[in-house]
Amino acid sequence: MFNQIYQPLLDQIGNTDLHPWLDDIARGIQDNLYASNNGHLPGWINSFERMPQALPSCLHYDQEAITIGHPNDLPEDQRHVLKECLGSLRPWRKGPWNYFGVELDTEWRSNLKWDRLKNAISPLQDRLVLDIGSGNGYYAYRMAGERTKLALGIDPYLLYVVQSLFAHRYLPESVPSWVIPFSIEQLPEAIPAFNSVFSMGVLYHRRSPLDHLFEIRSLLAPEGELILETLVVNGSEGYSLLPKGRYAKMRNTWFIPSCLTLEAWLKRCGYRGINLVDVSSTTFEEQRSTEWMHFDSLRTFLDPKDPTKTIEGYPAPKRAIFVASR
Ligand SMILES: C[S@@+](CC[C@H](N)C(=O)[O-])C[C@H]1O[C@@H](n2cnc3c(N)ncnc32)[C@H](O)[C@@H]1O
Repeated sequence: MFNQIYQPLLDQIGNTDLHPWLDDIARGIQDNLYASNNGHLPGWINSFERMPQALPSCLHYDQEAITIGHPNDLPEDQRHVLKECLGSLRPWRKGPWNYFGVELDTEWRSNLKWDRLKNAISPLQDRLVLDIGSGNGYYAYRMAGERTKLALGIDPYLLYVVQSLFAHRYLPESVPSWVIPFSIEQLPEAIPAFNSVFSMGVLYHRRSPLDHLFEIRSLLAPEGELILETLVVNGSEGYSLLPKGRYAKMRNTWFIPSCLTLEAWLKRCGYRGINLVDVSSTTFEEQRSTEWMHFDSLRTFLDPKDPTKTIEGYPAPKRAIFVASR
């Protein structure tokens, strides 16, 4: 069912410098989605099949919410069914989305991060883009709004991949935005083909952040651009925080460098034109529990008596965006 949806992606890949990846990508989609034995898959397919037939009269990738269709395109009872189908894919972390008037108020207002970076990066028009750890593809769809040639998101977490596929239920085959069920480790042998590579919210989950930066460089075309967003802490060059265990309740958090340290890492890995374009503390306005994400969120990740600290006593989350060229 879902892998038929990917046929236009395979056609699009065939028309780019990524064509040597075609067989591996097709096989990986098959293996990672179907042979995964993920117990939720039958339920997700059932929801997908229940989604009402509708032809969206509008598509907006350049607004806060990725907007698919107008409320008038779908009768009220059908919108109710659609809301149920989308609800079966909770938790919705990245967004917002609007399906025929059904507003998905996600945990993250991802549009705020997009606003922080969109004017600081090279125009995405006609570029081949990789988004590592793309989640449900919110940013990949925003990239379609910038008329990118192909925005390929990769994420190993199947729920997020399926959330992105639900959008394809209503989108034209020509839409250039996709999320495939791949981790960075599962990508085929690197081809220096991408004009832009986004790594956002990923570096602090890598045990070896320098290897991650080298790996991205091997995927970038000459003059290609890295857009790197990650947690940072205050400190001098050379300093980075290695939490003893969890950080803001997150498992699997490794190095959180100072901005100067991160700049030095980028230099050491061969990047040029390194530009720190934003540093922002994460706010309750940007990350919070909602109807679409019932679990704990930032408010309970911080010390209730001192919100400048995480619950473990580390500095509260602050994120930097760097742009650099290969
Ligand atoms: C903190 S989220 C960031 C999502 C999005 N990039 C953003 O900035 O909002 C990290 C994402 O990386 C994904 N991820 C985890 N391990 C990964 C891996 N080995 N390769 C690629 N993505 C991975 C997770 O499933 C998750 O969706």
